[in-house]
Amino acid sequence: MMREETTEIRVVETDDGSRTLYLPGLDETYHSTHGAVTESRHVYIEKGLDFWRAAHPKAKAVTVFEMGLGTGTNAMLAMDWCVANDCKMRYYSVEKFPLGPDLMKEYWGPKILSEVDDLVSQDVSRRSDAMHSSPWEQWIEIPLGLGGFEIFKHKSDIRDAEIPDEIDMVFWDAFGPKKQDGVWGAELFQPIFNAMQQGGIFVTYSASGDVKRALKEVGFGVEKLDGPPYKRHMLRAKKD
Ligand SMILES: C[S@@+](CC[C@H](N)C(=O)[O-])C[C@H]1O[C@@H](n2cnc3c(N)ncnc32)[C@H](O)[C@@H]1O
Repeated sequence: MMREETTEIRVVETDDGSRTLYLPGLDETYHSTHGAVTESRHVYIEKGLDFWRAAHPKAKAVTVFEMGLGTGTNAMLAMDWCVANDCKMRYYSVEKFPLGPDLMKEYWGPKILSEVDDLVSQDVSRRSDAMHSSPWEQWIEIPLGLGGFEIFKHKSDIRDAEIPDEIDMVFWDAFGPKKQDGVWGAELFQPIFNAMQQGGIFVTYSASGDVKRALKEVGFGVEKLDGPPYKRHMLRAKKD
């Protein structure tokens, strides 16, 4: 994929009222147009973090690795998860093409969530500002009511990225395998698998046969699950 800092990006509304970004040059969106938040919640929170939680009901902390910070939608939902589960999270995210803080202010502005009260939408803006305006390459705390959330934004191509140790949960949120070559293969999954805890979980919206095979090749047990609306399947992998 060729992409420059000046690439045109459009903010578009999705079917659940939440937003996503559209890259005309790649003809690709950051999330499902059938519902950006609905998709993120289904794949990464419900099939990912909630599943991990069921196996670790007493855990006080979890370490997440994300491929592709993008708009931070998964991170924002993960913050809510920390509050709901009174759990601390270390969230390490790799991103090659960071989005500007001004675009992110517009994206996460007051209209992002319809029918929510002002306090909730203010907190969404505050958290996203704190996340997108903070420096890269260091741990930053985003204050929450309950739980706790620290983020490390690593600006790198995933192929050269430094991988942290003791990962409990992986969110693999690259552009689709048909649109972007070279970010879904076993050579990338192997170091991630090696850095994961026993029992660690890997989730992705993709249900591609090639991705499934690559995950199995590096040692994961893989299952195909129901996908979010209008997407038949997704994948969940486990390091046993
Ligand atoms: C499907 S979008 C991710 C959406 C993101 N999780 C969100 O919630 O907005 C894919 C992301 O991967 C990033 N990306 C693309 N190629 C990359 C690469 N080679 N290394 C690291 N990040 C990359 C893109 O810039 C984009 O932010």
